[in-house]
Amino acid sequence: MKSALIVAATVGAIAVILSMQGRKVKRPHIVLILADDLGWNDIGWNNPNVKTPHLNTLGQNGVIFNQTYVQPVCTPTRAALMTGYYPFRTGMQHGIIWRFMKGGLPLKFKTLPEKLKEVGYLTHLVGKWHLGYSKLDYTPLKRGFDSFFGHLGGMISNYGKTAKDIFVKETNVGYDLRDNTGVVQKDNKTYSTLLYTERAVDIISKHHPEYPLFLYFAIDQPAKGFQVPSKYEDLYPNMENQNIRRYYAKVSLVDEAVRNLTSALKSRGMWEDTMLIFISDNGALIVTQGSNLPFRALGSTLFEGAVRVPAMIHGPLVKQKGYVHDGLNHITDWHTTILSMAGITPAESDLDGMDIVDMIANGSPSPRKEFVYNIDQFEMSPGAAIRVGDWKLITGNPNMNYPGQVLSEVDGWLPVDREVIKPKGVLDMKVPTPPANVTLLFNLKDDPEERHDLSHKLPMKVEELRRKLDEYRKDVVPLIDTTLDPKADPDNFDGVFSPWL
Ligand SMILES: *[C@@H]1O[C@H](CO)[C@@H](O)[C@H](O)[C@H]1NC(C)=O
Ligand SMILES: *[C@@H]1O[C@H](CO)[C@@H](O)[C@H](O)[C@H]1NC(C)=O
Ligand SMILES: *[C@@H]1O[C@H](CO)[C@@H](O)[C@H](O)[C@H]1NC(C)=O
Ligand SMILES: *[C@@H]1O[C@H](CO)[C@@H](O)[C@H](O)[C@H]1NC(C)=O
Repeated sequence: MKSALIVAATVGAIAVILSMQGRKVKRPHIVLILADDLGWNDIGWNNPNVKTPHLNTLGQNGVIFNQTYVQPVCTPTRAALMTGYYPFRTGMQHGIIWRFMKGGLPLKFKTLPEKLKEVGYLTHLVGKWHLGYSKLDYTPLKRGFDSFFGHLGGMISNYGKTAKDIFVKETNVGYDLRDNTGVVQKDNKTYSTLLYTERAVDIISKHHPEYPLFLYFAIDQPAKGFQVPSKYEDLYPNMENQNIRRYYAKVSLVDEAVRNLTSALKSRGMWEDTMLIFISDNGALIVTQGSNLPFRALGSTLFEGAVRVPAMIHGPLVKQKGYVHDGLNHITDWHTTILSMAGITPAESDLDGMDIVDMIANGSPSPRKEFVYNIDQFEMSPGAAIRVGDWKLITGNPNMNYPGQVLSEVDGWLPVDREVIKPKGVLDMKVPTPPANVTLLFNLKDDPEERHDLSHKLPMKVEELRRKLDEYRKDVVPLIDTTLDPKADPDNFDGVFSPWL
């Protein structure tokens, strides 16, 4: 035990110093905050009605990104971030991992924290995992995190920390809050996000600053649900619509959480060495009051509103600061770029992620010229989209949760005060309607809101992009195991959602 500690300490101390382009540099601390379902129009720098003063200030002293792209829903975005690959290469392309689902992020992929640990980072996950838990091997402590405090599934209620399974046993409710592998004592009085922030602050306060820290704070907000402590609602006394008021209150809570993390980093003397990254995992969803305006549609689609999200970075690497960078970047790039900031060249030669450190540091143009939004071969929603330069092609079904509906109320430009739609019979596996099959071509430079389909005018352009997409299609792998297994029933585990295989 003792010798293991000495070895770990020595490796850690050596790891702090490395040679990068001939310079001795210290590996930075990296704090990555991934918001849940935060829409384009739900952050202060895009919408002054939303109060996020701390995030705004960080952005003003860092770089705000105008074209950060993620996947249409949570699980695929998280998979792409953890692996550096497009989800169609990892089997994660279809959608979220539902409770009771057997599959998880395939074990053959090395994750971001696993790579960071190799050079001495101490790695922590606080908040949402959502990359599978049917087997213990799929869970955070087996995927590179030294510690985990949070929920394994897609969401929990903020007070009860419970979730419902919606497919197998509608009435069944299970608990989902863990501290490492142990179940946290049930308590329905403390708001989940306050617990999460407290833990993240605690990790920072106890961290030994000479070791590089990787803190992945997968905050469970603003997400779904409308419960929020009244203190945050009080920030919006003039907002009459209760749903919007509560939704914005949740975003302001995220802002306060970020403030608390930055204060903790300052108190610990770590702030000057910290790269803080803030990104949303997908656009606002139909079940929330969030908004992606001026972009089209909601999360779970292939339209811009689903995948173009608020993002910013702050820290010592940023030399040119206080502006909005219009360069393209994709969630896989953040995998590669975080590694690059840590002085790591990935062993895989075929990662989709690109290194955008130079763009971040010096404001230079993005190296990225194209990306694949998704390629999904699920039988009810075979949708795909690609961007090449300013051009975007959508083919097949653009909305994985509404296979039969196109250009309906869910795929348009929804006003901020739209009616929140409760999910009822809309979930992909239950809808029997045949999938839509569209061909849409947009020029995103002239038409970022996707209002003018040019596919009929420019058939050659359509063919050019379709051929590119077909090249990528050759690499599509089968989906992970999406079987829903009744053995996952939390009733078999004292009412707690738990690994069951
Ligand atoms: C909290 O749990 C208690 C005891 O199980 C229950 O009576 C109460 O209704 C719960 N409160 C909330 C807000 O869920
Ligand atoms: C931030 O810290 C303050 C002071 O400790 C605390 O009252 C507040 O609840 C914290 N906010 C969050 C979002 O955790
Ligand atoms: C951000 O993108 C929008 C829409 O594409 C564009 O109109 C705007 O000029 C861009 N902002 C910056 C600072 O490049
Ligand atoms: C969808 O439309 C394209 C182009 O019109 C066609 O080639 C393809 O076979 C159609 N797919 C299905 C599943 O109908």
